[in-house]
Amino acid sequence: MREQDLDRILITEENIKERVAELGCEIDNYYEGKEILLITLLNGAIVFTADLIRNIRRPLLLDTLRARSYGTGSTSSGAPEITGDLRLPIEGADVLLVDDILDTGNTLSRAVTELKERNPASLRTCVLLDKKERRQTPFEANWVGFEIPDHFVVGYGLDYAERYRHFPYVGILKPEMYS
Ligand code: IMP
Ligand code: MG
Repeated sequence: MREQDLDRILITEENIKERVAELGCEIDNYYEGKEILLITLLNGAIVFTADLIRNIRRPLLLDTLRARSYGTGSTSSGAPEITGDLRLPIEGADVLLVDDILDTGNTLSRAVTELKERNPASLRTCVLLDKKERRQTPFEANWVGFEIPDHFVVGYGLDYAERYRHFPYVGILKPEMYS
């Protein structure tokens, strides 16, 4: 049974589906007349991105980056490394950077700083989850799916030591699973 490692489900499949459709509409409205260069952060954001892009009706290009701040543990190293090669040119593009969760803010602020150096026409961010109270680096995403309290969550792309990404909902991992 896949729920056995969870305390409880925090956000159901149905809640996610509805909210992702709303985000798609909001993003569509914002980018009227433009083409979006959507850059997704691997691996965590792949499930969210796969659903989000199917709710976006604007022209869209997809590229990927990788950010590592966790290794295989549950606490951030504080110094995320942005790796991977973007294939598409950023200069002059309307970039939408997508991640699974905004936690300390270290990953997204680093990624935004690095991408801005390449002169995009615009750069906005979208995250599925936001744990506001955990922030170390001030950062606000332009679109947030859900604000959540400070629990370690897994599922819908989010992992603990690369496990649980395939769960179709977001659940709170039992603390004994990572202590
Ligand atoms: P930040 O740099 O601390 O904002 O962390 C962002 C990254 O940490 C996310 O892309 C996730 O990979 C990871 N992360 C933060 N909180 C959680 C969580 O509750 N569950 C799983 N991964 C998390
Ligand atoms: Mg991640």
